[in-house]
Amino acid sequence: MKMHPFAKFSLSSSGTSSSSSRRNFVDKPKNRRAWLFVALVFPILILLMFTSAPRQYLSIRRLKQRFRAPAGSEQCKYGTVYVYDLPPSFNKKLLDNCRAIDPQNSLCDALSNDGFGPKATDLQGIIPEDLTPAWYATSMFAGEVIYHTRISNYKCRTYDPDSAAAFYIPFYAGLAIAKYLYANRSIESERESQGESLVKWVTEQPSWKRSSGADHFIMLGRVSGDFRPGDHHMDAKSGSSFVLMPPIRQTLRLALERSPWDRYEIGVPYPTGFHPRSNAELENWLKFVRTRNRSKLFTFVGGKEKRLKDDFRGLLVDQCRDESDRCTVVDCSETRCSDGSPAILEPFLDSNFCLQPRSGDSFTRRSTFNCMLAGSIPVFFWKRSIFGQYDWFLRDDPERFSVFIDEKQVRNGTISIRKVLEGYGIEEIQMMRERVTNLIPRFLYVMPGDDEYDDGGVGKYTMRDAVDIAVEGVLRRFKELRLVERQ
Ligand SMILES: *[C@@H]1O[C@H](CO)[C@@H](O)[C@H](O)[C@H]1NC(C)=O
Ligand SMILES: *[C@@H]1O[C@H](CO)[C@@H](O)[C@H](O)[C@H]1NC(C)=O
Ligand SMILES: *[C@@H]1O[C@H](CO)[C@@H](O)[C@H](O)[C@H]1NC(C)=O
Repeated sequence: MKMHPFAKFSLSSSGTSSSSSRRNFVDKPKNRRAWLFVALVFPILILLMFTSAPRQYLSIRRLKQRFRAPAGSEQCKYGTVYVYDLPPSFNKKLLDNCRAIDPQNSLCDALSNDGFGPKATDLQGIIPEDLTPAWYATSMFAGEVIYHTRISNYKCRTYDPDSAAAFYIPFYAGLAIAKYLYANRSIESERESQGESLVKWVTEQPSWKRSSGADHFIMLGRVSGDFRPGDHHMDAKSGSSFVLMPPIRQTLRLALERSPWDRYEIGVPYPTGFHPRSNAELENWLKFVRTRNRSKLFTFVGGKEKRLKDDFRGLLVDQCRDESDRCTVVDCSETRCSDGSPAILEPFLDSNFCLQPRSGDSFTRRSTFNCMLAGSIPVFFWKRSIFGQYDWFLRDDPERFSVFIDEKQVRNGTISIRKVLEGYGIEEIQMMRERVTNLIPRFLYVMPGDDEYDDGGVGKYTMRDAVDIAVEGVLRRFKELRLVERQ
């Protein structure tokens, strides 16, 4: 049965309440489902009222039995994770007020479905028919909600802080600052206030005090620069300085892009739209991208940045247009490149390579993951876009699955992207594509399984995905720290 991230504890182990588990945060459950729930839960409540032990005690003990793996078990050999039940203003209220997160662009749909977003609707004819139900219009900024959902359902979650090896703080820091990112300094106190309240709340918790937060972690669904005013390319006075606040500075942070100088920061993959529900769906997808006939040498999906002088992306758009027999360009300043749209999937499926420059304000892009998911080989122009970023996930040396071309040489015309890429033989391309496709399962975000899927007969998903790798990495790191301290 799937746990809703804001559920305090689970009442039923029979899986009957899963009918509401796939619902949108903002949607009301269907009436019939609500009645079914009441009919099932009511007798349990009556039963609990007539038992001698206090209700809270009973349910917590039952949960411990269900969720805490037995001591010494292989499955949780690095320990268990405790999920803080934060005051709703730090997460749930942000979702309830999803219209206010980004005034220009409502994120309500994008953050629905426990962060995975609405189903993608227009991929028919582009991908195999039986795989379309595994595709969603997932927002690149939904990571905080997705991690919360997944860690709430994590196999090694514990409800007992005394036995936890790691503490997860489900504060949606990126959603909290989104509306201040491009705002001006006049509201500085406002944009820092939620981060400051969180710091105040968490540092008062007994579990934090015990370790000074050394076994705590958080997920930031944006690039780290958005939380470091001054690092940020666009405006030193925008964003918030959340990660620079003293207690957070030494809290382990999972972020879409890490700062190379911060050992407390771990880069985690941007969410993509593919969320396979079974091993068979994953295998079908891998087979599809491996055997795909690719008519173009390379592709570039991205917008010109007219406000930047010497805009490199604009240069790539122009170069790609000049080589249109070999390159496909999707100019996102003209075409809609929205989440889950075919405009960003199809060109990657049709190309051997994809160009991945930095964007105005960050070195990494979600596009790198969209590209690799389609079995296309990424081409980087800045080392920081990939080297040292996602080592836990793309464990291979980036040189083995990507191409690096120096941006300066492209600018001064001493190197031609086309010539460099034409230098790769068919076998070499196939070898690199194989490495790319082998990495795909490691950067996917799989939805927590529930009975709906078992009923549908699509089977189960048993591979480790990005959340499994991230959380296990956090647990390993804390375990190593404890060992070092003991010596
Ligand atoms: C900043 O905010 C103040 C007060 O709201 C406003 O008067 C000013 O024009 C803004 N500046 C910019 C550059 O937007
Ligand atoms: C790819 O092209 C080759 C040769 O043109 C053809 O034999 C093969 O069936 C095609 N594969 C797919 C998956 O379309
Ligand atoms: C082009 O840039 C590269 C890298 O900075 C430099 O080594 C090279 O000398 C430059 N060539 C010309 C012709 O400017």
